Amino acid sequence: MWKWVRKKYLLPVFLFLLAALLAGQWNNFQKVSSLDPATDTSLLLMASSEPITPIPTQIPLNLDKVALGKKLFHDPQLSKDNSTSCATCHSLTKGATDRKVKSVGVGGKLGEVNSPSIFNSGLQYKQFWDGRAETLEEQIEGPIHNDIEMASSWPQVIGKLKQSSEYTERFEALYPDGMTSDAIKDAIATFEQSLYTPNSRFDQFLRGNETALSTQEQAGYQRFKDMGCVSCHQGVLLGGNMFQKFGVFGDYFQDRGNPTKADFGRFNVTGKEEDRYAFKVPSLRNITLTPPYFHDGSAATLDKAVEIMIKYQLGREADSKDTDLILQFLNTLQGDIEGVS
Ligand code: HEC
Ligand code: HEC
Repeated sequence: MWKWVRKKYLLPVFLFLLAALLAGQWNNFQKVSSLDPATDTSLLLMASSEPITPIPTQIPLNLDKVALGKKLFHDPQLSKDNSTSCATCHSLTKGATDRKVKSVGVGGKLGEVNSPSIFNSGLQYKQFWDGRAETLEEQIEGPIHNDIEMASSWPQVIGKLKQSSEYTERFEALYPDGMTSDAIKDAIATFEQSLYTPNSRFDQFLRGNETALSTQEQAGYQRFKDMGCVSCHQGVLLGGNMFQKFGVFGDYFQDRGNPTKADFGRFNVTGKEEDRYAFKVPSLRNITLTPPYFHDGSAATLDKAVEIMIKYQLGREADSKDTDLILQFLNTLQGDIEGVS
């Protein structure tokens, strides 16, 4: 008798149990999605399921290289006419940008795009708005040679720096071949890696300190997730890990007017039609420090940038309550600025 029951009902019973289990899960899922994030913070603290992770509090680096790189970063001898250093366009006291719509280089020449912050740039997967450099070292070749940035060359730079016995000694102490272009790039890149910004209030919250964010700021984070900002601005930097088209809904460039070649973005690197108008999704870390916004510097304020994102990236009308909550959340992303003294 028992044998018969087992054989005949085993499959249906199994299926029934599975269905019951799934139904239970579905109920839980629905309960979860209907909770009010402003009152239920435990939800936000399911750290492993968060799409954003905190910046590490310690990144081990050779501190002698960091110090040498810092000196080089601030040295205008890296430019043709000794007028412009990396810090001219990435000032550490201005959020590592120049806060200009477009940067001005050697001879007062105007650049084509807005200078991005280089805080946390070592944690991005590629460099430049169009991602044309794979590494920080490769990126440095850009400004050194660019006619509208530093307009120089390695022989010129090394010729000038070798006049200084201090530089020569420091390079010899750190690099087997002394001062070479690779050594200069390595020192600057090591300094850039030291410019990470841990311990923002949001990171403290992600690490489990619920009181690090006000209820409003937590609601702002929930809006940021629910509205879909997080589908592009995610990972440790809330950006810096993918390319996306600017103008998913509507033609941003036509509406702005005067399209330029720089607006083609990633297309300029790959030549692929699907990459036209695609840009590296920028990091939102320390975002309040780095106006104006976008590769073309077209948004003077953060409110304006968020409104444009809601319209062109999400295809929605910006509601002032949403924008306000999101802005409150974005305000919590300012970290401790290391390497700056
Ligand atoms: C004349 C201004 C200017 C100077 C000088 C300059 N930069 Fe930049 N930097 C920019 C601009 C503008 C961009 C964006 C260019 C682009 O994406 O096409 C940029 C991009 C970068 C990026 C990529 C950041 C990102 O998020 O993609 C890094 C890193 C960087 N610069 C470091 C440096 C270093 C190191 C030096 C000195 C060797 C330097 N820059 C000199 C203006 C400048
Ligand atoms: C479909 C992908 C996508 C979505 C969704 C998205 N963004 Fe963006 N975001 C981008 C891209 C790409 C850029 C760079 C555009 C440019 O400058 O060319 C950007 C730029 C920004 C900037 C300017 C950053 C800077 O340094 O200039 C802010 C601020 C921003 N986004 C916030 C948001 C917010 C808030 C939301 C949700 C309301 C959002 N984004 C939704 C892709 C996206």
